[in-house]
Amino acid sequence: MSTTEKPGSQVISPRGSDTAAGGAPRATRLQAVRGMNDVLPDEAPLWQRVEDAARTVFAQYGYRNLRVPVVEATALFVRGIGDATDIVEKEMYTFADRLNGDSLTLRPEATAGIVRAAIEHSLTYERPQRVWTMGPMFRHERPQKGRYRQFHQLDAEALGFEGPDVDAEQIMMLARLWKALGLADVSLKINSIGDADDRLRHRALLIEHFERHRDVLDADAERRLHANPLRLLDSKHPPMQEAIRLAPRLIDRIGAPARAHFEGLTAALDAAGIAYEVDARLVRGLDYYNRTVFEWVTGALGAQGAIAGGGRYDGLAALLGGKPMPACGYACGIERLVLLLREQGATAHDAPLAYVAHAGDAAARMALAVAESLRDRGHAVVVHAGGGSLKSQMKRADASGAAVALIIGDDEVAAGTVTLKPLRVAAPQSAVAVADVAARAASYAA
Ligand code: HAM
Repeated sequence: MSTTEKPGSQVISPRGSDTAAGGAPRATRLQAVRGMNDVLPDEAPLWQRVEDAARTVFAQYGYRNLRVPVVEATALFVRGIGDATDIVEKEMYTFADRLNGDSLTLRPEATAGIVRAAIEHSLTYERPQRVWTMGPMFRHERPQKGRYRQFHQLDAEALGFEGPDVDAEQIMMLARLWKALGLADVSLKINSIGDADDRLRHRALLIEHFERHRDVLDADAERRLHANPLRLLDSKHPPMQEAIRLAPRLIDRIGAPARAHFEGLTAALDAAGIAYEVDARLVRGLDYYNRTVFEWVTGALGAQGAIAGGGRYDGLAALLGGKPMPACGYACGIERLVLLLREQGATAHDAPLAYVAHAGDAAARMALAVAESLRDRGHAVVVHAGGGSLKSQMKRADASGAAVALIIGDDEVAAGTVTLKPLRVAAPQSAVAVADVAARAASYAA
């Protein structure tokens, strides 16, 4: 992501004003909002590799694309994610619609919107549905490496499925995605946070435990101790970590149905050869989960090590006013995947096959025609625009990353040929008949 400033450039805050040396007003230079990044053309190919790999995996598992709005009613997230969570308490971009005063929020995640859409369109009326989406999410967090205020998720949801087989399926999808991307150094943590009555029974134990450690609780923990004690297990507050480690383990006390579900999941993962660690402290930061929760983590990104997280949310649809709908899903942070890929030395390019340089009016027309004929065959071709000497055009050709330059001047127009110059391998340039250009150029493709 482009977070660097050119040296010596003057950046003025979006609201700032400035005057030039002579006192005349000068337009202030606006910059992106903090924590919201541009993805520049040199960076985009790795993003596209991640997105393409994800699309392939989604399709391989029969997940179909569903697109939901970026803005939803605030109540959807408050109810869905839970009002005693960091996201709802501190991180939402919420504003009043100027026309009618409705409270709206930029989506901090996709699951609540997808479940809203499923209810609104009776998506699971006839049969369960596997869906995916991808796009920007917004959380007002403190930006740092791997954590942004606008970030992007790949998201998959299995709606209307009850058994642990889809939980395992989704973990397997992610394992396949890591493999497709060549990602190393990722590991899987799973846990069961049981059913609602399991958590209710566990609540008193947790409250009692943390009351005994009141001296280490921060303000959030104090506030949530009675409202939502499970959230305390998710705290990153360093003085609380020992108390969190000693807290009574919910997974040891879950009831028979949740236990059978968890055993179904671990059996499926064992059968698939997917290694996992059962982490009794894993509770996830959103309130809608029950039974299965999981996270894929990496040690290579410092504090922001979670590259994907998800779990089962059987109660969410009813909470949002729909019929009960068992479901399981996950989301994956694209920025973190791209960072991890880069960390592991991955590169991606989007160079064209050919760059066409030309001199003279007739050559310019021929350049367009030759380029179109190559595009007809599916190749990417850049035709030089903006004039300049052939020498300067060849510099552009080289910078474009093209495999070959196609050079057209008066001689080529007269002969009906193109001069083809390989740019990435040491090979002589040659005159090629127009009909043969595509095949010859393609033989130099990277
Ligand atoms: P989440 O754990 O909040 O879950 O986010 C999922 C992933 O999004 C994280 O593992 C991380 O990779 C990425 N992520 C989250 N916040 C940021 C941020 N501020 N900057 C960069 N990346 C971030 C959910 O959002 C759930 N909706 C997942 C889910 C789907 N559960 C069921 N279905």
